[in-house]
Amino acid sequence: NSLSNSYLHDFKIGVALNHSQVAGEIPRVTPLIRQHFNSITPENLLKWERVHPNPDEYNFTPVDTFVEFGVENKMFIVGHTLVWHSQVPDWVFETENGEAVGREELLQRMRNHIQTVAGRYQGRIDGWDVVNEAVLDEGGMRESKWYELVGEDYVQKAFQYAGEAAPDAELYYNDYNLWIPEKREAAIALVKSLLENNIRIDGIGMQAHLKIDTPSIEMMEESIIAFSELGLKVMITELDIDLLPREEQADVELPENSPVPDALNPFTENLPDSMHQELADRYSALFELFKKHSDKIERVTFWGLNDGQSWLNNFPIRGRTNYPLLFDREFEAKPAFEAVLEAA
Ligand code: XIL
Repeated sequence: NSLSNSYLHDFKIGVALNHSQVAGEIPRVTPLIRQHFNSITPENLLKWERVHPNPDEYNFTPVDTFVEFGVENKMFIVGHTLVWHSQVPDWVFETENGEAVGREELLQRMRNHIQTVAGRYQGRIDGWDVVNEAVLDEGGMRESKWYELVGEDYVQKAFQYAGEAAPDAELYYNDYNLWIPEKREAAIALVKSLLENNIRIDGIGMQAHLKIDTPSIEMMEESIIAFSELGLKVMITELDIDLLPREEQADVELPENSPVPDALNPFTENLPDSMHQELADRYSALFELFKKHSDKIERVTFWGLNDGQSWLNNFPIRGRTNYPLLFDREFEAKPAFEAVLEAA
């Protein structure tokens, strides 16, 4: 039983990973990845602050390892992400005197970054999240530094530069909450602005950071159909199901500015039996939906391999024990895993 084989004729099954997981540092992990997934996304390694922390400093070594792992295992490799408001170092938006950088200079920096990063992996990274999270839940553009300093066409510029740097890679727009009608419309307007200007975009990634009861299957379905009608490939990206209420307290106090552990974290509890079924049912309903629209959906990517390594142990509150994925803290398959297999 392999997830990716079970869905082979429907869509790819992807997973977000960190360096330790592709570097063979955790023995149980490598065989599990190879068995179940045919696509990988770096959870953090390709974000600007990691790969390009200073103007003249690129940190390619861990990315090279990541890409090599994907190539060796014949996986579809997704680059995440070129232009985003988060996890970008301050220098990108500032002059040497600490003033706001001008439009032309910022576009030049964006272009250099994209050419250097996407150019290096041309032919190996198969698709790029070119722009991440540019529109708001209530509609309209997010007023990020990119938007403020370049203007609305920063999205067009990013796709244009990515198309030049990586002509063989697919180019995606990626965002969360895309089932909210106002946000869906804003994303559609953004895609249309690219298409009308003859700028290439191949697909749209619907981040799926879900709760156990929201959003509804119907809302997700409406967006899958709407995006597909634009002629775009649809990807379900960043799939996980947060089981904790937003206001619940942390299990352990993490010092204010301590770095969040990237791969392994200290929380060890597995999901109480009573809640396994609830999670399995939610995953089951989701994969039935994805399967129903497998003519539109190209890939479903989980945001992490197992509960112990999920970012949701630390978001939106740091230091909680969460259970969002298919494999538990001992890397054992949960009932949710069986449910996803059964839906295939
Ligand atoms: C998250 C990572 O999972 C964390 O490890 C990191 O600390 C913050 O970013 N939307 C995205 C992802 O597009 O890049 C984010 O990943 C989760 C939300």
